[in-house]
Formats: sequence, C-alpha cells, structure tokens
Amino acid sequence: MSHKLTAAEIKAMNPKGIIFSGGPNSVYDESAFTVDPEILNLGIPVLGICYGMQLMAHTLEGGKVESATNKEYGKAIIDVVRDNVMFKELPKEQTVWMSHGDLVTQVPAGFEVTATSANCPISAMANDAKKLYGLQFHTEVRNTEFGNDILRHFAFDVCGAQANWSMTDFIDMQVADIRAKVGDKKVILGLSGGVDSSVTAALLNRAIGDQLTCIFVDHGLLRKNEADQVMEALGKGLGVKIVKVDAADRFLGKLAGVSDPERKRKIIGNEFVEVFNDEARKLKDADFLAQGTLYTDVIESGTDTAQTIKSHHNVGGLPEELGFELIEPLNTLFKDEARELGEKLGIPHELVWRQPFPGPGLGIRVIGEITEEKLEIVRESDAILREEIAKHGLDQEIWQYFTVLPGIRSVGVMGDGRTYDYTIGIRAVTSIDGMTADFAKIDWDVLQAISVRMVNEVAHINRVVYDITSKPPSTIEWE
Ligand code: XMP
Repeated sequence: MSHKLTAAEIKAMNPKGIIFSGGPNSVYDESAFTVDPEILNLGIPVLGICYGMQLMAHTLEGGKVESATNKEYGKAIIDVVRDNVMFKELPKEQTVWMSHGDLVTQVPAGFEVTATSANCPISAMANDAKKLYGLQFHTEVRNTEFGNDILRHFAFDVCGAQANWSMTDFIDMQVADIRAKVGDKKVILGLSGGVDSSVTAALLNRAIGDQLTCIFVDHGLLRKNEADQVMEALGKGLGVKIVKVDAADRFLGKLAGVSDPERKRKIIGNEFVEVFNDEARKLKDADFLAQGTLYTDVIESGTDTAQTIKSHHNVGGLPEELGFELIEPLNTLFKDEARELGEKLGIPHELVWRQPFPGPGLGIRVIGEITEEKLEIVRESDAILREEIAKHGLDQEIWQYFTVLPGIRSVGVMGDGRTYDYTIGIRAVTSIDGMTADFAKIDWDVLQAISVRMVNEVAHINRVVYDITSKPPSTIEWE
C-alpha cells in the first residue's frame, strides 16, 4: 500500500492492523517517506519496523530520532526489559538482525522501552494502550531468531487476525481460476530460469497441463548447469512442456564489442524480447501470456518509492503488441510465498531458494566487453564459490555471493613460470532486500580455500580479490 494513503482512506479499508516497513531513508532526508499522522490515532494497531519505528517516533509528540554514531549492520543481541505482548513467552535475550544508520533516542509520550541492545538502547518500544509498537530490528529476516513469533504476536494477539490462509487453498483457488479463464485455449510463458517464472510455469502446468508452452530463452549468460537444472526439474520432473531456445550465439553476437554497462543491459533485454517474439509467433494459436509478476513488482511499478540506479531487466514487460491476454497468478504473493508455492508444486528446494540472480545474468559480471573466454572464467569461478559457501554452511547467512571479472590482468608466478592473467573478484553481501548491503565477513580460512581452488581449477586466474565495500556507496553488482 502507498504511504500516501490518508487516515480516512485507511479507515475506509478497515484493516486489522498496519505495518510501517523499513527502508533505506532517514526521516531527515528531503525525500523521506512520511505518513498521515492521523493514521496513528485511528485506533488501528500499528507496528513500525526499522525506518517505520523511526517514522513513528519522529511523527509522535515527544519522540526523537538521531543519526547513530556507529551505523549498525548485522547480528545483535537484545534484552527484553519489560514484559510485552510482542515478546510474549520468548526468551529475555534474543539474537536479532539490525540494519540502520539512525536510531530512536527518545520514545514518544505514552511509550515505554521494551528491549535494548548495546548499540541501540531503544531496540523496541510499545504503547499498549494505543496498540502502537516499534521494533528497530528486522523481524522479517531469518537471522532474527524469533522474528516470526514476534510478527505472529502482532497479527494474532494485537490485531486479532486469524490464520485462515494456506498455500494449499491458494493452489486450489488458482488452479480453478486459471482453468475457468483459459478454458481449452493455449498459454505461453517466457521462462528465464529464475524463480518467479519457474513457479508460474509449475502452477499453470498443474492447472492446464500441456495447454501451456514455455519458451526458455537460454541467453548463454546463466550460471554453470543452470539451464540443465531448470530443464531437469521442470521439464523432466514436472512434465512442463518447454521449448528451449539456445540463443547464446545470438546474444554474444549482439554484445560483441560493447562495453558500456547500460548498453549491455538494454541489448540483453531487447534481445530477450526479440527471441521470445520469434518463438511465440511460431505458436500461432496461443491466446494467453503468463508472467511471474509478484506483488512486490506490482507495488513497485505503482509507487514512487522504487529507485532506479541501474535499468533492471526482467522477463516482465513482454510483447504487448502480440495481443495476448495476461495471466499473472503470483501477483498477490511475496517472494518467500512464491518460493513456498514452488516447493509445494514439486520444484526442488535448492532451485526455488536460490539467491537472487539478475536478468542480464553473467553479462553484467564480466566487466566491459563480454567474450566466451571471460564468461567461462566467471561461470567456473562462480560455481566454485557457490560450492564452497554451501560446504561451509554459509548459504543461509550470506544473501548473495558471486564472482566478477574486472578484466584486469596482472603478473603472477605459478610453478616456475611467470604468468600474466586475470584477477577475479569475489562479491558476497548480507542484506535484507538488496537496497542496502554490507560485505559478508567470511572467515579467512574459507576465503583462502576458495582462492586456492579458483587459481588451481580455473584457467587464466592468477589472483583473487575480495570486495569489502558496502552498498551504499557501492552497488551489489559491479555493473
Ligand atoms: P545492485 O547492483 O543494484 O543490485 O545493488 C541489487 C539487487 O538487484 C539485482 N540486480 C538485478 N536484478 N535485473 C534483475 O532482475 C537486473 O538487471 C539487475 N541488476 C541488479 C542484484 O543482483 C542484486 O540482487
């Protein structure tokens, strides 16, 4: 929902509760998102998380928000200092995930501090009488030990909501809706190899079987074995009808000699549509186009809160001119729900819970001009990195991890000889939503093991470097 809704509009919707979510802004930024202060007087429970809590403190009488001397990012221990419904039956000491530059230094009138931590004396605040709650840490991430319990307490105990939504019901309802809409007509879907389009394919397959044809454009910029994994899981495993187009040569041809990141993105995006169009035209009798649009995509395209730093390319925005009617069965789901749905539909766990992977794929991880040789170096080193991260049990902790080929070469010595070969960069970050991120503090020993393997196993690497910048000022991807 938009932060611009007025109290009257919200009242008319009659929600059981409201959550002010987190975000990268400071309440003092010129472009900071604000809310109608009257929302806090409607008698509807409100939970402010991170920025949401700061916004609450900033908006209400007596509250104060200041810039923290030490920006806090990562795990922290909080002490619950007062019994409170939000922490009901939970341990006094808990691990939480913090990610903030500002903090609340004074609670608003009528509030009390309910939890503290070493760096953040007001980690949680509550005004039980008005049902207003603030949490500086992020309940929605796995690293917050009791995040789900705390959210449940808000939803059930404070708001009086009931848990009557289940993924199984969702599948049944969607299957019925899709069948009713499609009848005996045909549907096509652009499969990118990513989670959203894969889950959409599995759901449509459940509903209409081979009335669905997926067009899987392999642009040659996927990770090692990724295309095979998708074909195996969806094609063989679930019986989804997939036309795989090996378009690597076509993409690499168009990308030859191009080094500007934005041009590369545009070329990859446009070419994707072209290849898809070519194939779609061959399937003359399809009436519907299915897309893996998520609720978050719907919100982002309908608000002014999304920031454009890089032109992001996704499989969305496919050919309107082909005159298809759209089917977007995931457009009420968040990413985690789409993943859960995927698992329920039989897509393997490791496929649906993969880390984020950009639409332009490895094309933006080879800095500058893309060549087959450079792609191979990134693909192989990335595979080693992923193997080692999983082997050391870090794949849950680290939000995204990959390798980048900056294109510089340097002198090395291997065996008895001088080498003059490529440097590979490792990027590994912790994050909540990719908007801000911190470099992951991976153990030296693990980094060393990764470095040794890369140099030994991947031809043309003689140096490995680790990116130790946060976002901001850097971005997660290098291009
Ligand atoms: P940056 O590099 O902007 O990345 O800090 C934030 C997150 O977005 C992903 N990313 C993309 N995802 N199409 C996508 O679907 C894109 O063009 C794209 N560019 C970046 C990036 O991997 C990270 O998770």
